[in-house]
This record gives sequence, C-alpha cells and structure tokens, in this order.
Amino acid sequence: MSIDHEHQTHNTGGGLRRSRAVTVERASAVPRLATLGTLLRGWRERAMLTQEQLAERADLNVRTVRRLESSELQQPRATSIVLLAQALGLDGEERAMLAATARGLPGPGEGREPVTTGSPRAAISVPRQLPADVAAFVGRGRELTALERHEHPNTAAVTTIDGMAGVGKTALAVHAAHRLAPRFPDGQLFLNLHGHTGAVPVEPGDALARLLLALDVPDRRIPCDVEDRAALYRGVVADRRVLIVLDDASDADQVRPLLPAGPGCRLIVTGRRRLIGLDDTRALSLDVPPPAEAIALFTRMAGPERAGEATADVLTETVERCGRLPLALRIAAVRLQTRPAWSVRHLLDRLRDDRTAELAAGRHSVTAALDLSYRRLPGELRRAYRLLGVRAGAEFGLDEAAAVQDTTVARARRLLDQLLDVHLVQEPAPSRYRFHDLVRDHAAGVTVAAGDC
Ligand SMILES: Nc1ncnc2c1ncn2[C@@H]1O[C@H](COP(=O)(O)OP(=O)(O)OP(=O)(O)O)[C@@H](O)[C@H]1O
Ligand SMILES: [Mg+2]
Repeated sequence: MSIDHEHQTHNTGGGLRRSRAVTVERASAVPRLATLGTLLRGWRERAMLTQEQLAERADLNVRTVRRLESSELQQPRATSIVLLAQALGLDGEERAMLAATARGLPGPGEGREPVTTGSPRAAISVPRQLPADVAAFVGRGRELTALERHEHPNTAAVTTIDGMAGVGKTALAVHAAHRLAPRFPDGQLFLNLHGHTGAVPVEPGDALARLLLALDVPDRRIPCDVEDRAALYRGVVADRRVLIVLDDASDADQVRPLLPAGPGCRLIVTGRRRLIGLDDTRALSLDVPPPAEAIALFTRMAGPERAGEATADVLTETVERCGRLPLALRIAAVRLQTRPAWSVRHLLDRLRDDRTAELAAGRHSVTAALDLSYRRLPGELRRAYRLLGVRAGAEFGLDEAAAVQDTTVARARRLLDQLLDVHLVQEPAPSRYRFHDLVRDHAAGVTVAAGDC
C-alpha cells in the first residue's frame, strides 16, 4: 500500500482515529531509503495530520514542518527531530530511523549503505564538555578496565565511583571519559552537581535544564515540571550516543532523574557518598592507591628530577605520611615545586612535624576537603565521628565503638554504617573499623574545636 493510497483510504473514513490496518503497516509505511522529507510526510499522513496540526503538536513553526518535508530545510535541530517523533507517535525503530536519516546515516536495518538521496544532514551541535584530562594520570588500571568494559545491551550503562575526599574520583571519571569519548559521537556532557564543594548542591530540575540546553533544546521548550523535563531529556538522548559525567553527586535522589534510558548512552557518576538505591548500576569504590602507585603519582606530580634525588625509603615514608591520598600527594608535590631549595627529605621532616599544616596549599587543603564531608553530617554523626576519631584504637570493633560513645552496640553499628557510607570510616574486615590517618587527624582537629574531649 502506498502512502498516498493509505492517506486517501483513511481520510475517506472521516476520522483521526488510527485503524488497525495502519498499525499493522506501521513499519512498512515508509520507504527504507528515504529522505527526511519523505519520511516525515509519510508518517504525518499516516497520523492523518495536516502540516499545521503537526506543527502545533510538536510546538514548532508550521514553516519548519513545510521546509522539512520539502527538503528545503537541510539542517534541522536535533530537538526538532525529537519533538516531531513525539508528535507523530513514532515507535522505537521509527525514531531511530528518523534520527539516523536526519544525521545522514543509514537507519536501523538499512545495511551499511549511507542514505544518499539528498537526505539532509541535521545540524546537531555536538556538546564536548569534558574538562581537560589529568595531564599525568597514573595507575587505576583495574578501575579503567571496569569502566571501559561496562556495557549494557538494552539500557544505558551507569557506573558510580565513590570514595573519600581527594581519593581521585573526578580524575578517574574524566580520564575514563576521555578514553571512552570516541565511542560517543553525539557528545560528552559534564555536570558538577556540587555535592561537596561548599556551594548549594544542584537541584535535579536545574541539572536537567543544564543538560537539555547543552543538548540544543531551546530554553523556551524546557518544561517547568521536573518530571516533564526528565521525560524530554530521556527522549532527546534516546537515539543518541552520548556520554554523561555527573561529578560530585550528593546522593541517589539527586541523580535518579538524570538517568538516561537508551542503550546508546553511558553515565559515570562520582560522589563521596555510596549511591545506594540506584537500580542497575555498577559501583566502583575507590581506595587510596597501593604504595608503588602512590610513589609513581608523587614522582609524576613533583617532577622526576626532584623526586629522583630521594632514596626509596624517603619516598615511601613521604607518600605514607600523605596517607597515599592523591589530594595530599598533589599538595605535597606542589609544596616541593614551589620551594626549589627543599629536598624530599626536608619535606618529609616537615610532614613528620605537622602534616596537617603542611598539607594545605592556598585554597586546597586536606582539612578543607574533609570539612566539607564533616559539615554535611547530621549532629549525632558528627559527635560519633569526633568521639571515635579521638578515643577509639587504631582498629576497633563494635563493643569498643559503643563504649567510647557510651551507647548501645546496635546504635553504634547504625552510626558506623552511616560513616562508612560517606567514607569517613573504613571497614577492613566485617565489623572491624579504622580511620584513614588523615581522617583521624581531622577528627582530632574538629574535636578540639568542638571541645568534646
Ligand atoms: N590517578 C591519578 N593520576 C594523577 N593525578 C591524580 C590521580 N588521581 C587523583 N589525582 C589528582 O589528585 C587530586 C585529587 O583528585 P580528585 O579531585 O579527582 O579527587 P576526588 O576524589 O574527586 O575529590 P573530591 O571528593 O573532593 O571530589 C587532583 O589534583 C587530581 O588531579
Ligand atoms: Mg571530585
């Protein structure tokens, strides 16, 4: 049945209701190698819409619809294509065909032949928002492999990276994203959700608006309602291959509306808190690097000529004094770079003397980074953190945790679980706990300030 025939048949039926015959013929109602204009006209006629009605439904100018159908408009916005697909009620395969044709690519099932019959190429502005890669990225081989191999056949693959302040979550996500970028020709989006920067965490509705704008959706088309925004966002990325990095999420609720649905998308989320409650995600909990990797990191950051002068023992102790925390290693390396007269040995002496003071450089300090995690805790957790940090042994169990807080074992366990979720405490073995050295220093510092002990 030709499209024109179908159009006449149903128009003589006199209504806008679709008949079963049309539904059955959905997939075959358009030529396989069609121009964008032919596809649109065919689907519009199948839906028994006039150009004016389609324009109204899609919230587009009728002139745009006319020019698209006549192939006069060669460079439609990607958003217009999404809005038209929604207005025409296209199914998944048809949407993919429309999107592919608009981009001058073969649609699904059309083989490898490009569409050459004058198909217009959509002017999709491809967002490339990734921050610069870490110039001297070191290690994290296992995590990079996990990130690169994570794929999902029928939905967007989502990887979350959690870990303590300064452990290297953002550096890993950005580095992995640069490596993955060639697989995502429709763009790479990066959004800082400000979970722990001291700024107000970004609301999901604002985050969606920012993502939609980056995806070329004009401001006036962005709905007010958060759910409508999320639906539009999912529609816009459904047929695209986009990589999205959401950095520094505060919790799962902030991220949930930002999950894309299409299998062509990848999402990488970082955050200091474990993102519990997101379905179908793969979680990578990032620990401090092993000693050899920490030395390599420090050497790259400080410069091999400076670090190379030090003995292996001095280097080992220096990175251990920094708790092997990349943020601390970076600050220590910057100290060395800005003090040409210092040797690593001299830096080590200063770290032995007062590492909290030493691990502060300008705006960046380990204390400031940990403060941002601490300040987000509710009152009872802050108190638990202070008491445990100062009074508990190097490694402690639940009984000891309960005793130092003068509370029950059940409550001590609950509080420790919450501190574990935000990576302020570690659990090296089941129900055995310890603090990272720099976190313990921080707990001691805030305890003095709070006058607890
Ligand atoms: N593998 C690495 N190679 C080189 N530099 C790294 C690596 N990991 C981290 N760094 C550096 O260490 C510092 C801290 O890393 P990053 O900012 O990624 O930590 P984070 O876990 O995201 O911290 P926050 O919790 O504050 O967001 C940065 O200067 C970063 O460039
Ligand atoms: Mg970060």
